[in-house]
Amino acid sequence: MSRTLHLNAFLMGVGHHEAAWRHPRTDPRRIADVRHFQELARIAERGTLDSVFLADGLAVGPAVRHNIQAVFEPLTLLAALATATEHIGLIATASTTYNEPYNLARKFASLDHLSGGRAGWNIVTSAQPREAWNFNLDEHPAHADRYRRAAEFVDVAIKLWDSWEDDALVLDPAAGIFADTDRVHEVAHAGETFTVRGPLNTPRPPQGRPLLVQAGSSADGIAFAARYAEAVFTAQQTLADGQAFYAELKRATAAAGRDPDLVTVLPGIAPVIGGTEAEAHALAAELEALIVPEHALAQLSGMTGIDLSGYPLDGPLPDLPEAHTVQAHQSRYQLVVELARRERLTLRQLIGRLGGGRGHRVVAGTPEQIADQIELWFTQGAADGFNVMPPLLPSGLTDFVDQVVPLLRARGLFRHEYTGRTLREHYGLPRPASSYAPSALVPA
Ligand SMILES: Cc1cc2nc3c(=O)[nH]c(=O)nc-3n(C[C@H](O)[C@H](O)[C@H](O)COP(=O)(O)O)c2cc1C
Repeated sequence: MSRTLHLNAFLMGVGHHEAAWRHPRTDPRRIADVRHFQELARIAERGTLDSVFLADGLAVGPAVRHNIQAVFEPLTLLAALATATEHIGLIATASTTYNEPYNLARKFASLDHLSGGRAGWNIVTSAQPREAWNFNLDEHPAHADRYRRAAEFVDVAIKLWDSWEDDALVLDPAAGIFADTDRVHEVAHAGETFTVRGPLNTPRPPQGRPLLVQAGSSADGIAFAARYAEAVFTAQQTLADGQAFYAELKRATAAAGRDPDLVTVLPGIAPVIGGTEAEAHALAAELEALIVPEHALAQLSGMTGIDLSGYPLDGPLPDLPEAHTVQAHQSRYQLVVELARRERLTLRQLIGRLGGGRGHRVVAGTPEQIADQIELWFTQGAADGFNVMPPLLPSGLTDFVDQVVPLLRARGLFRHEYTGRTLREHYGLPRPASSYAPSALVPA
């Protein structure tokens, strides 16, 4: 069977470009308007995209003077999008460092029920020191510790989703039996970090378990993805980097005893679309001119963990420590440093490049040129699909759906209509049986 592209719409405010809210083609007031996001979800569904995705951060700082990335908590917002759509998958980010497994398992199970099986979880360990300050901590836990906690966290969540077998609900008013308690299980988890008895207080979700997504590309991140992820978001700047990450992720997945074909790799792409290539580059230049340098520099300082405010904008990136010593986003840090070194960028040029996608690849061009790049990475072993990050919303998503998607369909790369009902079916994934079901307990 030929491969099909998977496309996810990464929704963020009024656009991914950090100056999108200042551009005349957006209305920044819509950032707090649920109808804006319902409209975006419907546009993505009209394009038969696999899913929409919401990122999340658990803190806001002085940078809010110039921009804010999100207003709503993702699971809450996706519940509102679930009622405004029918097919599109709904992927929310939630942190394993600043949540408890029982609460998150319940919320994702609820979203899966509410949406008829369209929930997905982008599992993050959070990376900003400022987030720790909102959760009783002075310091952010170390990178490796965060991933160890995340692994146990997901193990517990999976047990909780499985704690109701699929046919546990009896609903026999005559007999007065609501559920078959032989099929509702205590999980009795006692681990290094968590002690959780269960069962979950929500019956088994329609998908069995929400789609599990992950977005870390460090050694720890890849090891975690190899064990748990069904879809992996990543930021890659060049085809060669994309191919190297793809091969490593698939290799690690196979080494973890899982089928690498059942893990979908989605690099980010920020398409700046124009009727002509010149028009696209003109739009990119317009947006770059709207960047507030001190805000962009603060973002870059946050990404590198180094205060860059004292360095000349037209000078190079200063010497920085090795990526493996960084406790925040290791792979993003590495990507930014390599980009600056490889292209000998000044700080001003670097923040200009990062403004469009925070390290994700920005492609400016005609719809044909965007479709060519997507096809190239898809056919050359660098991607199973893409995380689409329009610079301006809603217009950038509308342009992608109306001008690029038809080209991808015409090339036989992308679906013309939804054939599945659930997010897992969109990604071509089987529905997992409950690990407590008799069939799961019979030794192979
Ligand atoms: C597409 C994408 C979306 C992400 N969304 C979030 C997010 O919403 N919240 C968050 O804290 N981190 C987010 N991250 C960061 C990752 O979770 C992770 O911390 C980062 O990629 C660094 O991982 P590493 O240290 O394993 O390399 C995202 C990363 C990518 C590639």
